[in-house]
Amino acid sequence: MRFAILASGNGSNFEAIVTAYEAGDLHGELALVFSDKPDAYVLHRAKEHKVPTKTFTVKEHGGKAGYEKALLQMLKDEQIDYLVLAGYMRILGEELIAAFPEGIVNIHPSLLPSFPGLHGIKDAFEYGVKITGVTVHFVDKGVDTGPIIAQEAVTIDENETLDSLETKIHQVEHKLYPAVLKRLFAEAE
Ligand code: GRF
Repeated sequence: MRFAILASGNGSNFEAIVTAYEAGDLHGELALVFSDKPDAYVLHRAKEHKVPTKTFTVKEHGGKAGYEKALLQMLKDEQIDYLVLAGYMRILGEELIAAFPEGIVNIHPSLLPSFPGLHGIKDAFEYGVKITGVTVHFVDKGVDTGPIIAQEAVTIDENETLDSLETKIHQVEHKLYPAVLKRLFAEAE
């Protein structure tokens, strides 16, 4: 079982996953990290961990259709079985999703179905909910709508700030995601 991580930004979840992987906690092989942003910090992190990287942009492929086609071909060439989205800021195309039935997971920083979209932490904070959290889910063609695999709640305390909430959410993500992948990959093999 070969898995790829798709990410667009900082890559702190990648870091948590690769740490678990290096400790021998995850089944399967971490084949590569792909980013649609050539200057994303996650690519630097991957190189530090000697994980192969691939990157190209939508623009390089003349738009979304060409980009998705190139991405799917690259994943096929690399014989990838499972996709792990970790801060990948694009919506996957239908063909790509169909190529990995039950084999694409994502992490979202809220208790879905509440607060989907780009700003899950801020939206929950500004709404004033007292409990938010983290969701790991399978990816379908909607935005943050696939079947939920695991969730963990995070309390928003009386004197919470957006910064302190972000820190708490990320701490939970970094424990929850590797733990869920450990279970899923053990079942997939
Ligand atoms: C995380 O909060 C994740 O839930 C969301 O994007 C963020 C990625 O952070 N999908 P990082 O790049 O892993 O640091």
